[in-house]
Amino acid sequence: MKDTSLLLLLSVLFCCSTNSARLTVTPSSSQVFAGEPVSLRCEDGWTVRRNTSIGNRTQCGDWGRSAGSSCTIDFMLPRESGVYWCESTEGSTSNTTTITVSESCPPCDEGR
Ligand SMILES: *[C@@H]1O[C@H](CO)[C@@H](O)[C@H](O)[C@H]1NC(C)=O
Ligand SMILES: *[C@@H]1O[C@H](CO)[C@@H](O)[C@H](O)[C@H]1NC(C)=O
Ligand SMILES: *[C@@H]1O[C@H](CO)[C@@H](O)[C@H](O)[C@H]1NC(C)=O
Repeated sequence: MKDTSLLLLLSVLFCCSTNSARLTVTPSSSQVFAGEPVSLRCEDGWTVRRNTSIGNRTQCGDWGRSAGSSCTIDFMLPRESGVYWCESTEGSTSNTTTITVSESCPPCDEGR
């Protein structure tokens, strides 16, 4: 009896805390071109993180313009392709999105 209600409580907690964590990406396409801006928005109090070839689990402040729970990258580079998600201070994570940045002009120099 007690075990059953504990299990029920745990599944409710797991269900709803997972569903409340969302990442919204603008533009919604996962395919962007070098030089294009991308904006990512989390729920209040969550921070945007990413895994790319140049760093794992890095925070928006390291590579984007952070404004509250939003993050904007003005100029995407091909090496910024990777997995993006939101993370709470307790370490919960939202759904992830994969963003692929392709070269828009050959060769596209990073310094430009
Ligand atoms: C995350 O999930 C929410 C709700 O299902 C959805 O609205 C949102 O577009 C998803 N975000 C990404 C980046 O897939
Ligand atoms: C990120 O993690 C992957 C898988 O663990 C690893 O292969 C890669 O070297 C890491 N990249 C960086 C920049 O730490
Ligand atoms: C990000 O990279 C870390 C370290 O390699 C890995 O443990 C983690 O699962 C990755 N997260 C995502 C969402 O890919």
